[in-house]
Amino acid sequence: MRSILKDERTLARCHIAKMLLSQSETPHISFHTPGHKVNDLDITELSYSDNLSSPKGCIRAAQEDIAAILGAKQSFILTDGSTSGVYSMLKAAFDGGVKRVAAPLLSHKSFFNGCALLGLAPVLFEAPQGSIPLPVRLEDAEAALSGADALFLTSPDYYGNIPDLPAIAALCQRQGKPLLIDGAHGGHLHFTPALYAGTYADLWVDGVHKSLPALTQGAVVSAKTQAWGEKLKTAVDFFRTSSPSYPIMASVEYAVKYPRNLQLETLVHTLFSDCSCVRVSEDWTKLLLFVKNGFLVAKGLESVGVYPEFSDENLVCFYLSPATSAEELNGLKEAIRRLEERGETLDKKTLERAPAPQKLQNIAGKECEWIPLAGAAGRISAGFCGLFPPCLPLVFLGERIEEEKIARLQSATGVFGIENDKILVVKE
Ligand SMILES: Cc1ncc(COP(=O)(O)O)c(C=O)c1O
Repeated sequence: MRSILKDERTLARCHIAKMLLSQSETPHISFHTPGHKVNDLDITELSYSDNLSSPKGCIRAAQEDIAAILGAKQSFILTDGSTSGVYSMLKAAFDGGVKRVAAPLLSHKSFFNGCALLGLAPVLFEAPQGSIPLPVRLEDAEAALSGADALFLTSPDYYGNIPDLPAIAALCQRQGKPLLIDGAHGGHLHFTPALYAGTYADLWVDGVHKSLPALTQGAVVSAKTQAWGEKLKTAVDFFRTSSPSYPIMASVEYAVKYPRNLQLETLVHTLFSDCSCVRVSEDWTKLLLFVKNGFLVAKGLESVGVYPEFSDENLVCFYLSPATSAEELNGLKEAIRRLEERGETLDKKTLERAPAPQKLQNIAGKECEWIPLAGAAGRISAGFCGLFPPCLPLVFLGERIEEEKIARLQSATGVFGIENDKILVVKE
C-alpha cells in the first residue's frame, strides 16, 4: 500500500491517506477488528477514521474533492469494484422508474446480473464487430432506446473503444431518458473531458483501480444531479460492504488526484502510432497487438517476465496507466519489434472477421443441466460464458452453441460460466 502512495505532492492533498499515515505512528492497542491486530493502514471505523456510510470527516472531504474533479454533483467511493457501481447505477435508475434498459450485447456480466437482481428488462442491441468489438453505433442505440427507459453503455470498453458520446447523450436528452455509463476502464479519462463518461452521463462508474494507481477493487460511482445523487446514495448502501477497506478508500482518493502523465501519453503515440500491428485508440491506455497466435505470444512474453492484460486468438492487450514507466514502454516496443521480425504479428487492417449475429431463444421456465463443454455443440446455452478477462459473454443465454466457440473456450487460459469443464444448457 505505502509503495503505491509514492507521489508526495499527490499524497499531500489526500485526506484519507494522511489520516491513516499519521495515526499509524501513534500508540495503538487493538481490541477491535480487523483480527490481524496490526496497527497499520488497515483499520476499521474508529473515533478518528470517519465512516464511509455516513461520512463527516476525512472521507467526506475526499468524496467532495473527487466529485469536484470528476464534474459530479455527488461521488461515492467504492471498495467492491465497478461491479457494485454498476449495480448501484441500475438500482438508482430502477428507483427512478426505469423498467427496461437498452444496452449493447457485449456488456460486462455485472450489467446482466444487476438486471436480473432488480428485475430490469435488458433491451439488447449489437455493436459492429471486426476482429475485435467496435464502438456502438448511434442508430443501433436509438432503435433500442425507443423500446427502453434508459441507455446503458460501456465507455471505454476493454479494447479502448469510445462511442460517439456527444451524439448519444443528445439522443438520451431528446428522449428524456437517463444515460448510464460503465467507465470501469475509463478512470483516467477525466483528464480529457471530451472523451470522459462524466461529461455526458447522468450516472457513471470510474473503475479507478484499472487505469489509475488505486488498489484492486477501488472504484467511484457518480451522479450528475442532486436528484440522481439522492437515489444513488440509497442504491450504493444496498450493494457495498459494511466493512470497507481503508487502504482501498485511501488509494481511490490518491488515484483520482494522481496527475496526468502527458509525457507517457505522447510516448505511446510516438512509439506505436505507425506500427501496423498495434492499435492505439483514443483511449491510450489499451494497446492492442495483433498476432498470429495471441495465446502463444502471451506465453512467450510471460516467460521473460512481461505480463499482458489478456490475450485472445489474434490479440494481446497491454494495459497502461499514468504510473507505467517510459522505460518499460520502450522495452515493450522492442519486444514487439522482435515479434515483427520473426513474422509473428498481423497487420491490424487485415483482421476483418464479422461473426453472424446471435439468435437468442427465450428459455424462461425450461429445465437446465450441466454437460461437458466438449459435447455441447448444437445445444442451447442456459447461461452466459466467455473468456476471463475480458469477461464479456462469448456464448449468450439462449444461444445455440457453436463448435468454434467451444474451441475458443477450451483454449483460453481463463473463463467464466464454465464449471469443471461443464456448461449449463437447456435439457432436451
Ligand atoms: C466493462 C466492465 N465493467 C465492469 C467491470 C467490473 O469491474 P470490477 O472488476 O472492478 O468489479 C469490468 C471488469 O473487468 C468491466 O470490464
